[in-house]
Amino acid sequence: MALKITVIGTGYLGATHAAAMAELGFEVLGLDVVPEKIETLGRGKVPMYEPGLEELLRKHVAGIEGSTGRLRFTTSWEEVGAFGDVHFICVNTPQKHGEYACDMSYVEAAVSSLAPVLHRPALVVGKSTVPVGSAARLAELLAGLAPAGADVELAWNPEFLREGFAVQDTLHPDRIVVGVAGERGEKLLREVYATPIGEGTPFVVADYPTAELVKTAANSFLATKISFINAMAEVCEAADGDVVKLAEAIGHDERIGKKFLRAGIGFGGGCLPKDIRAFMARAGELGVDQALTFLREVDSINMRRRGHMVELAREAVGGSFLGQRVAVLGATFKPDSDDVRDSPALNVAGQIHLQGGQVTVYDPKGMDNARRLFPTLAYAPTALDAVRGAHVVLHLTEWREFRELDPAVLGAVAASRHVLDGRNALDAGAWRSAGWTFRAMGRPRA
Ligand code: UDX
Repeated sequence: MALKITVIGTGYLGATHAAAMAELGFEVLGLDVVPEKIETLGRGKVPMYEPGLEELLRKHVAGIEGSTGRLRFTTSWEEVGAFGDVHFICVNTPQKHGEYACDMSYVEAAVSSLAPVLHRPALVVGKSTVPVGSAARLAELLAGLAPAGADVELAWNPEFLREGFAVQDTLHPDRIVVGVAGERGEKLLREVYATPIGEGTPFVVADYPTAELVKTAANSFLATKISFINAMAEVCEAADGDVVKLAEAIGHDERIGKKFLRAGIGFGGGCLPKDIRAFMARAGELGVDQALTFLREVDSINMRRRGHMVELAREAVGGSFLGQRVAVLGATFKPDSDDVRDSPALNVAGQIHLQGGQVTVYDPKGMDNARRLFPTLAYAPTALDAVRGAHVVLHLTEWREFRELDPAVLGAVAASRHVLDGRNALDAGAWRSAGWTFRAMGRPRA
């Protein structure tokens, strides 16, 4: 009999995982404690912008015309307990307010609510990013609370999806990592992934701590790579070198690789910044904080990029923002997402606003979320409207729409033609020939 799957927490990770499991042919039940989310997903609507996710969801959500009906949503724990053989925990582990550590309360609440309804054999699989040591602790909690006792097992199966590519990354992962304490965990997860997802994909079986660490180590490495190239950008600017050329040249060495060497205003989002901080906090608890002091530097190089963009903008408008209009193109932490969590773009916009600049922001998909987070900034309905009357234009999130803008058309409405490329993605030649003073981070001025 085919396994039945539940997915607990239906944010980016959970909604995508639930739809992907249904795509593979499983019967899936998704649970969230927020009834509005369940209601929205039940209508085949996705509460965030994620390319391809809504189509996949509509293909499977029960009640939608032409769907397979394999995917349903609920707020009932009892229903989840009675339905599932494998329960995936996909809730958020955000950074704690004012601390480096991550907030485990959603994961703990999910396990505490799920365990008492597990009356039959089941596998609980954690997917959330957690500090090393959490799985062992949660396994104990589960064993103490689940009526089925030893017939309930825990496994850890970290997820590596990127926003904007969530569907693709879930259906075609680079690797599958499972942390297990017993044989049943591995057997059931092999069964789940013995589908097109797993075909030809490396399947790494490890213990709990290693599986938990794989995720934090991977994100720390990626963050380090970005801060490395941004440190080189600082040096290039001082020495009149070109960081884009430099990245290309070192990237030809296969040991280094070209990916994740885009210099600019640095990384943001709901994962990299909080994951490196939570990792440092956990290393401190384990008494090995020295092993990760380099991550403090990774974090500070990253934060310095935002301040540097503010300085470049101030310089472009003559030394003070007072009375100056600043157009900000981009609000999300990266393109193809509506996520503004720890967005470098909005952070720069906010700093300039606090220093007296009149900031107008435009973003193709992130306007609603940006307005909620920074209600005091001004927002324009199009890029052209944001640029109208501006003394400097800042390109802070590399949406394709911005690369396709005509610098001559923008130049006709701007108050002065100064543009700063915070993502090294615009065509410098095209902007310069349209009469703009063009500066990009880590590149020569001329
Ligand atoms: C990241 C990891 O890539 C993913 O594997 C993990 O599961 C979750 O965290 P995500 O946060 O969606 O994914 O975004 P990612 O594409 O990694 O970009 C993170 C940030 O780094 C963005 O702000 C992006 O603009 C920035 N970045 C990325 C750079 O500044 N330069 C680069 O070369 C690459």
